[in-house]
Amino acid sequence: MRTSYDLQNEKFLDIHNVWQIFPTAKGPFTALQNVNLSIAKGEFVSLIGHSGCGKSTLLNLIAGLTLPARGGLLCANREITKPGPERAVVFQNHSLLPWLTCFDNIYLGVERVFGATNLVSRRETGQDGESKASLTARTDAALAMVGLQHARDKRPHEISGGMKQRVGIARALAMEPQVLLMDEPFGALDALTRAKLQDELLTIVEATGSTVVMVTHDVDEAVLLSDRIVMLTTPTADKAATIGKILEVNLPRPRDRVHLAGDPYYQKARKSVIDFLYAK
Ligand SMILES: Nc1ncnc2c1ncn2[C@@H]1O[C@H](COP(=O)(O)OP(=O)(O)OP(=O)(O)O)[C@@H](O)[C@H]1O
Ligand SMILES: [Mg+2]
Repeated sequence: MRTSYDLQNEKFLDIHNVWQIFPTAKGPFTALQNVNLSIAKGEFVSLIGHSGCGKSTLLNLIAGLTLPARGGLLCANREITKPGPERAVVFQNHSLLPWLTCFDNIYLGVERVFGATNLVSRRETGQDGESKASLTARTDAALAMVGLQHARDKRPHEISGGMKQRVGIARALAMEPQVLLMDEPFGALDALTRAKLQDELLTIVEATGSTVVMVTHDVDEAVLLSDRIVMLTTPTADKAATIGKILEVNLPRPRDRVHLAGDPYYQKARKSVIDFLYAK
């Protein structure tokens, strides 16, 4: 029998009948309509769909950066009304603070979650914040994870686009969030770095049990990483986007990209997404 605890875990993220409407010069623009999706704790979900079909809009809603026009979103049974450290975001355009070094960009997030400055949560948990040495060690470990120790003291304008994206990924991972929200996190990377970071992400997510929602344009990336692939679509040109199809990827983990390339189930999953994206 399923307990209420199981049910809460099955609906760890719960998106209920969500609509998003933006005011524009030509009047209200409905970007998303009637989106319903429950994501289990520890699940890895990809959002895929054509440019402009509302992927970032949906991710921003889960992040609490925007509020829905209608419907509601829950995380662990609590309504999402604002951003929180339990839901870290890797943005589509890295969004690092330009005046801070790579180290300080990550340290800022780490301190917010684990440092003594977070007085409210410290009062709630009764714990002291971690020492400066411990926060520094966390930050350096995150830099090492994305291979950027050498860029530790550089500022964003001094590093490449792919490196900036890696700092953004390190910043999110270093906060050890319950939910990791990623908007095309590997889009700006070369194929080798991308593969390395995808593998790294799989290892980290398996170790931490994080729930992940990732936007991607890359079908192989979606199949390799996900438990489910959520395909967004606009039913007709004049209609707002919504979920068109959801594909479960029942491939055993840990997954090996070389081995999977020749796997018939992998090929079938891949074809199913491609058919959906290009048949319309
Ligand atoms: N703040 C806003 N005001 C008005 N319209 C918006 C706003 N944000 C997004 N939109 C519109 O909503 C639709 C969805 O945008 P969104 O950024 O979510 O697309 P996307 O799927 O992430 O696209 P891409 O793959 O290109 O990043 C687009 O038509 C976009 O123009
Ligand atoms: Mg987007």
